[in-house]
Amino acid sequence: MLPAVTLFWVLWLPILVRASVTVYSQIPLGDSTATAAGANYTGAAAYDPTVLQPPPVPSGLPTQFSIQLQGSTSAVSGLSIQQRGSFLGYSIEFSVIDQVLGINSSFLQVPFLNLMANIRERAGEVHIRVGGNTQETATLVENLPGGVMMAKETGDTGDVTQTPALLYTAEVLNLLGNISALVDVKWFLGIPFNDTNNLRLGIAEVGEAVLSGPGYLLGFQVGNEPDLYAAHGNRPSTYSPYDYFGEFGVVVEAIAKDTSIPVRDNLVAPSVSGTWSPEMVWNTGFISSYSSSLGYLAVEHYPSDNCYAEYGTGTPVDPQTAFPSYLNHNAGIDIIAPYLNSTAIAQQVGKPFMMLETNTASCGGFPGISDSFGATLWALDYGLQMASSNFSGAMLHVGGQDVYYNPFTPPPTNQSSYHQWTIGAIYYSTLVVAEAFGSSGTAQIIDLNVSSGNIYTPGYAIYDNGGPARLVLMNYVTDPSGASDITATFSIGGGDTGQANGTPAQVQVKYLQAPSVSEKYNITWAGQTFGANFESDGRLQGTLSINTVSCDQSTNTCSVTVPAPGAALVFLTSAAFSASNPSSTETFPTTALTKTDNTATINPSVLATSNGMSGSTWQLGSTSQESRGLKMRDSVSARVAMVVVSVVSMILW
Ligand SMILES: *[C@@H]1O[C@H](CO)[C@@H](O)[C@H](O)[C@H]1NC(C)=O
Ligand SMILES: *[C@@H]1O[C@H](CO)[C@@H](O)[C@H](O)[C@H]1NC(C)=O
Ligand SMILES: *[C@@H]1O[C@H](CO)[C@@H](O)[C@H](O)[C@H]1NC(C)=O
Ligand SMILES: *[C@@H]1O[C@H](CO)[C@@H](O)[C@H](O)[C@H]1NC(C)=O
Ligand SMILES: *[C@@H]1O[C@H](CO)[C@@H](O)[C@H](O)[C@H]1NC(C)=O
Ligand SMILES: *[C@@H]1O[C@H](CO)[C@@H](O)[C@H](O)[C@H]1NC(C)=O
Ligand SMILES: *[C@@H]1O[C@H](CO)[C@@H](O)[C@H](O)[C@H]1NC(C)=O
Ligand SMILES: *[C@@H]1O[C@H](CO)[C@@H](O)[C@H](O)[C@H]1NC(C)=O
Ligand SMILES: *[C@@H]1O[C@H](CO)[C@@H](O)[C@H](O)[C@H]1NC(C)=O
Repeated sequence: MLPAVTLFWVLWLPILVRASVTVYSQIPLGDSTATAAGANYTGAAAYDPTVLQPPPVPSGLPTQFSIQLQGSTSAVSGLSIQQRGSFLGYSIEFSVIDQVLGINSSFLQVPFLNLMANIRERAGEVHIRVGGNTQETATLVENLPGGVMMAKETGDTGDVTQTPALLYTAEVLNLLGNISALVDVKWFLGIPFNDTNNLRLGIAEVGEAVLSGPGYLLGFQVGNEPDLYAAHGNRPSTYSPYDYFGEFGVVVEAIAKDTSIPVRDNLVAPSVSGTWSPEMVWNTGFISSYSSSLGYLAVEHYPSDNCYAEYGTGTPVDPQTAFPSYLNHNAGIDIIAPYLNSTAIAQQVGKPFMMLETNTASCGGFPGISDSFGATLWALDYGLQMASSNFSGAMLHVGGQDVYYNPFTPPPTNQSSYHQWTIGAIYYSTLVVAEAFGSSGTAQIIDLNVSSGNIYTPGYAIYDNGGPARLVLMNYVTDPSGASDITATFSIGGGDTGQANGTPAQVQVKYLQAPSVSEKYNITWAGQTFGANFESDGRLQGTLSINTVSCDQSTNTCSVTVPAPGAALVFLTSAAFSASNPSSTETFPTTALTKTDNTATINPSVLATSNGMSGSTWQLGSTSQESRGLKMRDSVSARVAMVVVSVVSMILW
């Protein structure tokens, strides 16, 4: 038998290092110096250097406008349902969890923990869906050669996406549970649906046993994009919403008979991707027939696709030409327009409505778009638009090294001894959304349609605790001259609201900024950044910068400037500020008791110092392995630097 480590690499290396062979020729542009060389890049998509041209400054952009806010929640019509700071979460392809999360329940990726802790500190929790195409054929097995927790079955499943069939052990669920215990991640998982004559319910049996008790399990998706089954050759070409209705019923019945699955009201469906409208599924009687089984209604959708470059299917898309379509307020509005009827239906039947998988474009995203500050603004606006339209959450997809759109990417496995993680542009959007809603779980949002609905400068208000709590003001325009910076002057109450003046004496403002929508690396949130490719251990670097803006209470007005490009999160009350902001700068406030040494603790700042670093560098941040209960995996033989938590129990403070 092959040694474990060798087997691991034999199985995974081809996937892990699969480089993008996509080559885009440069678009002839007036100012060629502004377009970086990415043309002949043949490395992995996740590190593609392509930089696109920002669109020109729109003519006649209004740079000054006023916003009248109601002083009380009850005076606002059209506010969303209550939203959580965890609204924007992540959808992680099942096949990459051993790169992104950790290799088993003892070896967790510390940068990942730090990234999740960032969200947890702002939102109180994190929502993650583990699944995707690879969930459909995944099979739970007792054990795997070499003791690994997952492996790819030889051959593929024969579908056009060439998805490998996965084998995995219960250790995957232990891993998820241990992550949850540290950073309050709650999970959506998927029940394999490739073969409803031979159901494999193991993930629900073990998933409920390990994750349900402590409240770490959100639900089980049944069927991933069933509207694409026929196109992918997984079902006959006649496969219809009624067929899906029938097969869903098979799963419901099987679960009802399975005593190892005690929680039976947490299924997620129909997860259609746009080939079928949700209404086509609703019209089968789906919701009323399965009401007691459905925990969530869900769809998945990407606004575009790069499948021509990836698989030679569909229509070629030129990223430079497509870029402007991501850079205005209509982008998010247009994506979700087909779902507004369904979010209303979901409210009527009392089910949360989820965007379970989304990102800039399917089939990997686009170089220069998916990894740009433009995508940061796009995902922020799109996320807030979904929230204001009564979705209950949205998951940004995480693929492997061969996609452009990852919110975070571990280094290629043979570089992990000297490279750290790469934090993608859209991770920043999840941080800002976490702070926009904060940790109360009762925030409500409305699209303010500011500046007479100008699509380049949208604005949202978040109400909580009975009144306005925060504003998000955005500017999609790139204009280094400063001439396109916008100044929004808002008033709370007063004016013709019939309410008393309510504008505070001062507000606090955090900026999301980059020099251009094309920027890939110099992205800052409140002055802090995760840096460029391979530079992050998952913690924000740099000095936190929070602006205090004085308001004019005599005129009941307050003016906030938003740079071009950028976004501002305006905290209207000190309560709103403290509900969103980490009380300490430590990103990993955890004490762990280890199996080997019950009294050892992991010093939070040490654990947060992460890795991808050599063992000796690690030692600098630590005293001794033993005293910390930490060990590094041998970076030569395993080449993945991870921390051993060997957790027996964890105490969060
Ligand atoms: C790409 O390759 C072509 C042909 O080898 C070469 O002429 C061109 O200069 C290269 N472009 C860049 C940006 O490196
Ligand atoms: C996790 O993986 C490491 C390295 O392969 C191994 O030593 C350890 O026993 C594994 N732990 C579990 C719980 O499987
Ligand atoms: C479903 O997936 C399992 C695991 O890969 C495989 O053994 C089985 O043959 C598949 N069933 C169908 C109908 O494709
Ligand atoms: C971590 O995983 C192990 C299984 O490997 C399990 O025994 C332990 O209880 C888990 N710890 C937590 C806190 O979930
Ligand atoms: C909303 O969906 C329901 C159920 O499918 C359908 O009957 C109704 O026509 C839809 N309404 C709109 C405005 O699309
Ligand atoms: C969201 O739901 C609220 C409460 O039902 C409603 O007032 C509001 O109009 C809805 N928003 C949208 C965009 O559908
Ligand atoms: C990493 O692996 C890839 C694929 O096998 C190989 O092309 C590359 O040279 C390796 N890099 C290093 C530094 O070993
Ligand atoms: C936004 O405001 C503009 C101009 O004031 C108006 O024409 C438009 O209908 C509004 N849009 C929405 C969605 O309310
Ligand atoms: C990074 O971007 C900011 C604007 O967001 C700019 O002020 C700063 O000079 C840039 N830094 C570098 C190193 O380019």
